[in-house]
Amino acid sequence: TLADKQYRPKIHFSPSTGFMNDPNGLIFDGRYYHLYYQYNPFGPYAGHVHWGHAVSTDLYTWQDLPIAIRETEAGEAYSGCAVLDRDNRSGLFPPRTQDKPQPGAVETAAQKAAQLFSPLPGDEQERRSVDRQAQDLLHGGRTDTDLLKELGNDPVSREQSPVPMSPALPPMAGGLVAIYTRATPQRQTQYIAWSPDGGQTLKDYEGNPVLDIGHNSFRDPKVLWHAPTEKWVMVVVRSREHKVSFYGSFDLKHWMHLSDFGPSGITGVDYECPALAEVEVEGETPGEKRWVLFVSINPGGPQGGSITQYFVGQFDGERFTPDDTIVDLTDFGKDSYALQTYENMPGNQTVYVAWLDNWQYCEELPNKSWRGIMTIPRKVVLRRDTSGWLRIAQNPYQLEALRRPAIPFALSRLEPQSSRQVALPTGEAVELLLDVSLEDRGSTLPDGDHGRAGRFAVVFSNRQGESLSIGFDGFSCQLWLDRSNLHGFSHPFFTGTFSSALIPGSRRFSLRIVLDACTLEVFANEGMSVGTALVYPANPLETLSLQVTNAAAVIHKVALYPLRQTMD
Ligand code: FRU
Repeated sequence: TLADKQYRPKIHFSPSTGFMNDPNGLIFDGRYYHLYYQYNPFGPYAGHVHWGHAVSTDLYTWQDLPIAIRETEAGEAYSGCAVLDRDNRSGLFPPRTQDKPQPGAVETAAQKAAQLFSPLPGDEQERRSVDRQAQDLLHGGRTDTDLLKELGNDPVSREQSPVPMSPALPPMAGGLVAIYTRATPQRQTQYIAWSPDGGQTLKDYEGNPVLDIGHNSFRDPKVLWHAPTEKWVMVVVRSREHKVSFYGSFDLKHWMHLSDFGPSGITGVDYECPALAEVEVEGETPGEKRWVLFVSINPGGPQGGSITQYFVGQFDGERFTPDDTIVDLTDFGKDSYALQTYENMPGNQTVYVAWLDNWQYCEELPNKSWRGIMTIPRKVVLRRDTSGWLRIAQNPYQLEALRRPAIPFALSRLEPQSSRQVALPTGEAVELLLDVSLEDRGSTLPDGDHGRAGRFAVVFSNRQGESLSIGFDGFSCQLWLDRSNLHGFSHPFFTGTFSSALIPGSRRFSLRIVLDACTLEVFANEGMSVGTALVYPANPLETLSLQVTNAAAVIHKVALYPLRQTMD
């Protein structure tokens, strides 16, 4: 249909057909960024959950690949994550002929595991049979040069793919392992799957499940390598109990319960998709870090439906201790959910991707043949707010690389009750940068019953009378976002207006706005306040205008960039 085309983003990932929800298995493997995703290949609604898979070298240009994990008789393949098991601590990977014997790492891990967990009987035998199968599958009498050549001819090859090849992975004894939930109505258990081919296919471990507590709401494992205690740590939720459980493992096969966190913050109906990351604190002390625990909730978000909250604190390898009692959301809109942070990011940066949607209406959106969009990648740091509390600041990650020459739009001041406009390029994603101060209201201005201290708005509109606005209210010092005057989609829960928490202190604010087909992402004040919204104009938005009421605005900076298309 027209909507399927019209609303297809140009720089955001969306599936070609079917239904997509949470991002899964986000990992940089030294060569590719992987994006696995919750995927129903059979129709544009949730269900029959598989893991779809795409790779990229820049996090914007995605090459979609074959399904990586299927729904099986054991259940649907619910959300999870991926890690790089470089040293084959799991023992899941077959030994490679050219590898020198690698005693150190493997033995230590195995010894540690043996001390802490009593290995399951038959484990060694199991492992040998997995290894034998893998050996057959992977090597099958071929040399590593043959294998490399074959990998070069896989769907991610130089010839066939728009993804440029980057240098090959350093040789590794192990490889990529996914940890995810198998779900049936009766039971949710944690599975692991290893990849013989750099992440393209994922093979279930024969000893699955690796974690089963007899629950039907126990899901969404996210695993990270905790270097100080040399083990993997899993965060996973007991959804209905509003608990995040922490588990530890030396081999990804045996998991030991470490601690629980929660109920805390906003509980909603279910806790879902937890993520734990050590995040850099901006400021004078270089290298200062703090742990952030993200917990998604659905339904029951304050804006309705799905939302993600976060806690800032300490993590000692066993237990997460929040620094304070502050509850904060990642977004003031309602269309950013189930974020997952990238594992193994260059420079240990914290970068996440979220599902740009909400469970309240995701199955009824106007596009029909495909549904589901991911946010652009966002880098997270911690910054002190004016009261001294650490808050996350989120900004687009390396979006600058997509900028085409700026559309001329020079402007240094707007007088009260005036506006300036410029035509938008057709069919392209755009980025708008603004840095503005509202002047104090002059005594000559008429008194009105709204906009008492001035209001600045960015308005995207068309000849058909539709408009989408984002603005700053000088009286409340809040941002607002209004999608209610767009006519492409109506739904009782598709609410129209949102406002941010207080942007304290000042009448100066900055905005970085990305508009791409049916997606709007607003990053205010260097990422201290972020609003994400699906937007459905019935007709294309053609004009951008900046408007100010009841105050004059000083425009310190304005820039409008068309963005190079990365997706078709
Ligand atoms: C979150 C979620 C997860 C679950 C997955 C199923 O959106 O409900 O808790 O694993 O989606 O697709």
